[in-house]
Amino acid sequence: AMRNELNRMANNIQDPEAKRIFGAEMEDFFLLFNRYLTEKAKGEKIEWDKVNSPPAERILPYQQLDSLDPSMLDKLVVLRLNGGLGTTMGCQGPKSVIEVRDGLTFLDLCVRQIEHLNETYNVNVPFILMSSFNTADDTDRVIQKYENHNINILTFNQSKYPRVNRDTLLPVAKEADSDNAGFYPPGHGNVLDALNNSGLLDQLIAAGKEYIFVSNVDNLGATVDLNIYQQMINSQAEYLMELTDKTKADVKGGTLIDYEGNLRLLEVAQVPSDHLEEFKNVNKFKIFNTNSVWMKLTAMKRVLDNDELDLEIIVNNKVTPKGEPVIQLETAIGAAIKHFRNAIGVNVPRSRFLPVKSCSDLLLIKSGLYTMEHGQLTMNKARQFSGTPVIKLGDQFKKVSDFERRVKGGLNIVELDHLTVNGDVHIGKNCTFAGTVIIIATDGNKITIPDGSRLENKLVTGSLAI
Ligand code: UTP
Repeated sequence: AMRNELNRMANNIQDPEAKRIFGAEMEDFFLLFNRYLTEKAKGEKIEWDKVNSPPAERILPYQQLDSLDPSMLDKLVVLRLNGGLGTTMGCQGPKSVIEVRDGLTFLDLCVRQIEHLNETYNVNVPFILMSSFNTADDTDRVIQKYENHNINILTFNQSKYPRVNRDTLLPVAKEADSDNAGFYPPGHGNVLDALNNSGLLDQLIAAGKEYIFVSNVDNLGATVDLNIYQQMINSQAEYLMELTDKTKADVKGGTLIDYEGNLRLLEVAQVPSDHLEEFKNVNKFKIFNTNSVWMKLTAMKRVLDNDELDLEIIVNNKVTPKGEPVIQLETAIGAAIKHFRNAIGVNVPRSRFLPVKSCSDLLLIKSGLYTMEHGQLTMNKARQFSGTPVIKLGDQFKKVSDFERRVKGGLNIVELDHLTVNGDVHIGKNCTFAGTVIIIATDGNKITIPDGSRLENKLVTGSLAI
């Protein structure tokens, strides 16, 4: 039935090129869908007894790496995953167009990083963006301004798969050009297929490129690191995953395991429920995947040409705007590690993982805790502790627009350990918070912290008196 529906939708497309693209995407989707049905029928689960810590020689500490001969940069391309929306932060558009600092968005900062790399080493590393049908238009608008810059920006779109009704197991969309609510971008594991389908993978290989560095667009810590790149080359690894030490805040992150002698990604969704606590334990699984990976282009091509790719399916249950329960079948790039030879992990410093998942993360990045140079963020040297402060903002700060209205710029949190803000609170310009600061406006009350205030180990509940 699914096959018939997909065929019917394809046949209704008039334009031959659009028909070809849709057809090719639906082929990939149909394979994924069939794999989902088969696996569901078999009830395949990971066998916990076979889950072991990876051998020490496969996870290298960052500090032991050598540094690179920069001439190898000619062989590198950099890709940022840009298919995701900023919905969890209350944004309509792509997360990457959220303004981070000095009027610059994530995208702008990523461009700056590459421009700086190219200037420093006198190379021309191309910058690639994988967008989705959700993010392409806004992204193109932002990068237009770089047309006359000396940087080679390439974009392509990831696949657009149909959402499937949970009960009928048929596509929600009736036609290929139906409303976007009937479709979804199938996760960052799609980058392999999508890069290949776009023709870009072949073009890069033909142009003499050998390696690709892929990372999340919102991770400003994921800059090109010469030591890691050199390690990739020295160890002839076809795939390298960057992992970092787990803290209590990231117990849900995927980790690398040894499974029947192979290096594999283990995601929380795959863990049997009676082993969840063990999985989250910071002592047993010490490191987690930052989603920054380096791959060899010809190895990607081999895996794709051999039709080997079978990334673990992540079933994402959603409800459409019309209230229809649907499933989205997604995959993750980290799961691809099992298909590559000599794959390794590198345990990188936390500074390479600065994701922005919420406005609390945004507050950290926007504050004076980091200094910014060439799109790169470095922890302010004045900070005495290595970790970042713990920030807990209430629901009133959930949306970026509300956050920006409530928190003015220039916040100094270099000496801060913990900040909790809740209720109708406004924080003025150039304030300094140190130690533990708790600001709570109870129902019907409003608290305004005046410009330039300094709060140190302070609990503010009623009206503010400093
Ligand atoms: P995710 O949404 O997978 O991870 O996006 P996240 O930001 O860690 O969110 P949670 O907390 O797991 O839900 C990671 C990166 O992958 C891109 C996003 O734009 C982001 O840069 N992405 C995600 C895609 O490019 N395509 C997708 O289909 C999904």
